[in-house]
Amino acid sequence: MDTSIVIETSHLTKAYDGHVAVNDLSFHIREGETFGFLGPNGAGKSTTLLMLLGLTQPTSGIASVLGLDPVRQAREVKKIVGFLPENVGFYGDLNAEESLRYVADLNGLDHHRIRSRIFELLELVGLKKDAHKKLAVFSRGMKQRLGIAEVLIKEPRIIFFDEPTLGLDPDGAIKLIELIQSLNRERQITVLLSSHHLHHVQKISHRVGIMINGTLVAQGTINELAREKFGIEEREYSLEEIYMKYFQEA
Ligand SMILES: Nc1ncnc2c1ncn2[C@@H]1O[C@H](COP(=O)(O)OP(=O)(O)O)[C@@H](O)[C@H]1O
Ligand SMILES: [Mg+2]
Repeated sequence: MDTSIVIETSHLTKAYDGHVAVNDLSFHIREGETFGFLGPNGAGKSTTLLMLLGLTQPTSGIASVLGLDPVRQAREVKKIVGFLPENVGFYGDLNAEESLRYVADLNGLDHHRIRSRIFELLELVGLKKDAHKKLAVFSRGMKQRLGIAEVLIKEPRIIFFDEPTLGLDPDGAIKLIELIQSLNRERQITVLLSSHHLHHVQKISHRVGIMINGTLVAQGTINELAREKFGIEEREYSLEEIYMKYFQEA
């Protein structure tokens, strides 16, 4: 067994009422990697994340997350894997500090450590000056960054980001992507990033996977995929060109 592999699936399949959302998925992610997870809407990306987290059960096949089985050990998996879902829910009447305190409480964080830790996290995600603003007035980008601070409370080794930059303006999206990159580089957090913003994915991913209609049609480094689709590289291909080629041929 390769010990640097932290996520692995084998023939993972999920059908909803006969409709196959994820079909025979076998892939892996290594420790410390940022893995870009691509595919059109409805491809099965979120369903895959939910199965890895133990939030929905596979129809067949198996997954392993840090050596744990998400079906039988869902609680343990949720303790060490952070998840920023597509739509993060917040209480608009709380301010940022209160919201983080609430999550810290839920995670059983020691009361003496809470205050300093909360301000550390707010600073890390660039919200220190907004600590006492109500979430009702937060922009989508600010909410996403607060969501990341909440995820970081439990000090996860892996974080899943499901379309984190959707609906952000270009500046907010770039800042969020740079924050995700710094979590990977400086805190050695393994990242699984699902996104339609291919230039962002290209910028920070070590490897990518392309899912179309429930099937993972490619996985590897961007150079590997370029070679597979375009042969010997006479120039560098963008992830966008590579993705479109797989998409057209699927
Ligand atoms: N809870 C559900 N019940 C029935 N069908 C679902 C459910 N969740 C997702 N699906 C279907 O599964 C397919 C994959 O969806 P999803 O994993 O959300 O794709 P993606 O995240 O790539 O956009 C879609 O056809 C979607 O309609
Ligand atoms: Mg999705």
